[in-house]
Amino acid sequence: MITTRESLNSILNKYPKNPEYLLPVLQDIQLEFHYLSEESLKSVSEKLGLPLTRVYSVATFYNAFSLQPKGKNIIQVCLGTACHIKGSPRLLDELVLVLGIKEGETTENGLFSVEAVRCLGCCSLAPAMMINGKTYGNVKPENITTILEEYKTKNHED
Ligand code: FES
Repeated sequence: MITTRESLNSILNKYPKNPEYLLPVLQDIQLEFHYLSEESLKSVSEKLGLPLTRVYSVATFYNAFSLQPKGKNIIQVCLGTACHIKGSPRLLDELVLVLGIKEGETTENGLFSVEAVRCLGCCSLAPAMMINGKTYGNVKPENITTILEEYKTKNHED
């Protein structure tokens, strides 16, 4: 089994010791672990020969990076205009109710994180949401439990 340290090293080893690679390295780590841990930021700073403060400032500047651990399944609810008009805030309300977390939070079991986004690029399917990149269109609040069930089952089988 590959450890977190080994996965991190294999990302770091892909890049030369050059500060120019800061963004791609951080993107790879975010993609792999869904967040940037303190340990990973320190390792990036050592590997690229950059001050830790510089690595932190880039990591906190971009919205694409998170310094908090995220859930195994990332739920993105669209609050863009088209979805908003078709009632997407009610989807968010339902998720908050069913999962017991607010937008931007992760469930205690680490299974789900909920994020609100501005347009998923599929406005004709409004109201839309996405889970781990899979699009769900014309979603009604009463569909939420069934949709989440699929991910709970999947993760139990892992
Ligand atoms: S506004 Fe929701 S997908 Fe575009």
